[in-house]
Amino acid sequence: MHAIQLTAINELSIADVPVPEPIRGEALVRIKAAALNHRDVWMKLGQYAGITFPARPGSDGSGVVESVGPGVDPQWIGREVIINPSFGWGDNERAQGDHFTILGLPRAGTLAELIALPVAQLTEKPSHLSWTEAAALPLAGLTAYRAVFSRAQLKRNEKILITGIGSGVALFALQCAVAQGAEVHVTSSSDEKIARAITLGAKGGFNYTHAGWATTAAHAGHRFDVIVDSAGGDGFELLVDLAAPGGRIVFFGATRGNPPVLPMRKIFWRQISLLGTTMGSSSDWAAMVDFVGQHWITPVVSDVFTFDRAAEAFALMEKGGQFGKIVLTP
Ligand SMILES: NC(=O)c1ccc[n+]([C@@H]2O[C@H](COP(=O)([O-])OP(=O)(O)OC[C@H]3O[C@@H](n4cnc5c(N)ncnc54)[C@H](OP(=O)(O)O)[C@@H]3O)[C@@H](O)[C@H]2O)c1
Repeated sequence: MHAIQLTAINELSIADVPVPEPIRGEALVRIKAAALNHRDVWMKLGQYAGITFPARPGSDGSGVVESVGPGVDPQWIGREVIINPSFGWGDNERAQGDHFTILGLPRAGTLAELIALPVAQLTEKPSHLSWTEAAALPLAGLTAYRAVFSRAQLKRNEKILITGIGSGVALFALQCAVAQGAEVHVTSSSDEKIARAITLGAKGGFNYTHAGWATTAAHAGHRFDVIVDSAGGDGFELLVDLAAPGGRIVFFGATRGNPPVLPMRKIFWRQISLLGTTMGSSSDWAAMVDFVGQHWITPVVSDVFTFDRAAEAFALMEKGGQFGKIVLTP
């Protein structure tokens, strides 16, 4: 079968690899679509913790169960599924345990025609989603759901700011927050992406490349109950300024590195909570899939590439050209 492999830093190719054999408790899934996350780019650049080559990226996928290993009910065969990429969370809802891993490293990922996975990681595909939409859901959906609800506890009518709306996770956070009845504002480097976010239910947005954007937002009277960020860097201090008293800033990435300054006095005096989050537990996963079904949320698919055009797909994500998820099909 064909699979996409990283053989060294920035060396991406399609390889012929053996079809995996599902072991006890596993099913063999024929991938219909897989999606990229920024983590796959960090892997390609050799910047992901623990990366060794060769490696097969891909945390997201949708497909059909083709066969099952010992101990698995044969009724799984033929089921249309999505894959939960969060492995071994453990039984503490507050944080993942020591055995937590994400599909795609160290375990070979979804950028392959077939993948063998524990059936416990498989969930019925939401029926309103196409294969590409379903593949776009897992990692971004899970991360955004836990950030917005399990961690930041967003309530109806609260004001939320979501930064870098071009990001797959940010867009899903937007869709969750709109469905919850919150007032959503976004930031982006692109006015066009802000305009598209408004068509998805955002009330407004700010271009973070414009100096003084946060001052403009503050002068317009904006103070946010919840702020969702994955950029960090020197823009993080501005987010503290924009948080309402008692506000919650939740973050799951540091694309721009650590903030050079953490304004301690502002944070404690204004009772602001800084909340770290990563992916989600099995309960977050089940709640997210349920929420998507209840609200008919459809992940935004930016671009679809066939496996032989994987290099183009990665390049698009590296330059941040997408709006929503980049999907690959075998
Ligand atoms: N901890 C976890 O479980 C977890 C899960 C998923 C992702 N992440 C991390 O979260 C980050 C985003 O991941 P992703 O897969 O959603 O990435 P992505 O789809 O590649 O999105 C990256 C986006 O970051 C935004 N951005 C870049 N610089 C920014 C800045 N200075 N201020 C605000 N936004 C900025 C850009 O938004 P615009 O195009 O709108 O400017 C860009 O589109 C990465 O660091 C990733 O490693 C962590």
